[in-house]
Amino acid sequence: MKALMLSGGSGTRLRPITHTAAKQLVPIANKPILFYGLESLAAAGVAEVGVVVGRTKDEVMAAVGDGSAFNLKVVYIDQGEPRGLADTVLISRDFLGDDDFVMYLGDNFLLGGINDVVAAFSGRDSSVNAHILLAKVPDPSRFGVAIMDGKGRVTDLIEKPANPPSDLALVGVYLFDSSIHEAVRAIVPSARGELEITDAIAHLIKEGKTVNASMVDGYWKDLGEPEALLEGNRMALERMTTMILGEVAGSKIEGTVVVEAGASVIDSVIRGPAIVGAGTVVRSSYVGPFSSIGRHCRIEETEVANSIILDSAVVSQIAELEGSIIGRYAHVIKRASRPISNSIVVGDHSRLELI
Ligand code: DAU
Repeated sequence: MKALMLSGGSGTRLRPITHTAAKQLVPIANKPILFYGLESLAAAGVAEVGVVVGRTKDEVMAAVGDGSAFNLKVVYIDQGEPRGLADTVLISRDFLGDDDFVMYLGDNFLLGGINDVVAAFSGRDSSVNAHILLAKVPDPSRFGVAIMDGKGRVTDLIEKPANPPSDLALVGVYLFDSSIHEAVRAIVPSARGELEITDAIAHLIKEGKTVNASMVDGYWKDLGEPEALLEGNRMALERMTTMILGEVAGSKIEGTVVVEAGASVIDSVIRGPAIVGAGTVVRSSYVGPFSSIGRHCRIEETEVANSIILDSAVVSQIAELEGSIIGRYAHVIKRASRPISNSIVVGDHSRLELI
C-alpha cells in the first residue's frame, strides 16, 4: 500500500501564521502537524509516500527530506496551485500506478493512528473499492458529510452542505483502490472551483462500487483553524512523558514537562503538560498547562498558559497570556516608557484581543 500525503493548499484560515509558513508545518507540542501523519503512515506499514506540495514546497521539502527520518521513502509531487483534493490524485497517477493507497490530509490530526484501518483495507475482500472514516461533529457544514442507509452503508456524500443531511463528517484519511482514478477523471470542479474528493467518492457509489465506512477510532481534528490548533496542542501535550534535558535552576517543575536539551529554565515555575524547546530561555516566568514554547525563544517575567509560541519569539513582562498563538520572531513585550498605551505593529490577517 502506498500513500499520498497532502501538503499543498493555502492555509488561509490560519493566517497570519501561514503567511510565512506551510500550515502543515505549524507545530503542536513542538512537532509539525505533518510529522504526526507521516509517523502514523510508517507505523501502519506504509513504505512509499508521495507528498503533494504547492506554494510552500521548499519549506515542506526541507522539513521532510527524503523521508528516511520517518522510515519512509518520500517522493514529491508538485501541484502548483491548489486545484482540489481529487486533483492531487489526478496528478499522482504515475506515482500511484494501480496500487491501493491511503490519502492523508496533512492538516488532519488522528491520535489513534491508522494501523487498524490500513490493515483491514489490505486484508479486505477485493470487492471493496474504498474505505472512508467518519466522525460525528457539531458543525457538519464545514466538512464533507456522509448520508447512510439503515444498514450502515454510505449512499451519498456532499461537500460542505449548507443544510447538512447528517452530522457525520468525512475525516481526512481515505483508502482507495485503482477505481478512484476513473472517478477523479469523471467529476467537474465544484462551486468553489476545486475538484472535490468527496464528489469522486460519491461518483464511485453511483457507479455501483463498494465504499465502506467506519467511525474514526479516538481523537480526530482538522487543525485548520486557531482554536482547533490549540485543542490539538493540548491533546498532543497530554500524551508526552516528562523529560528534562535542559538546564533547570531555582525553578519548580510540576506535572508532565519536557525541557529540551539546550533550553534553560531559571527562577520560574513550569506547570505541565508543557514543553520548552531547545535553545529557549525561560526566566522569572510561569509557564502553565498546555503551553508549547518553541526553540530559541525568550520568555521573561511573563505568565503564559494554553498557548503555542513558535520558534525565536520573545515574550517579555506580559502578565497574562492565554489561548494565544505567537508567530516566529514575533516580539510581545511590555512597553518600557510613557505613554502607557499599546503600541502595535501587527501583520496582515492577525487577531489581537486586548484588555
Ligand atoms: O478535514 C477533513 C475535511 O478535509 C473533509 O471533511 C472535507 O470533505 C475535505 O474536503 C477537506 O476539507 P478542507 O476544506 O478542510 O480541506 P483543505 O482545503 O483544508 O485541504 C486539506 C489538506 O489538503 C490541507 O493539508 C491542504 C491540502 N491540499 C488542499 C487542496 C485543496 C492540497 O495539498 N492540495 C489542494 O488542492
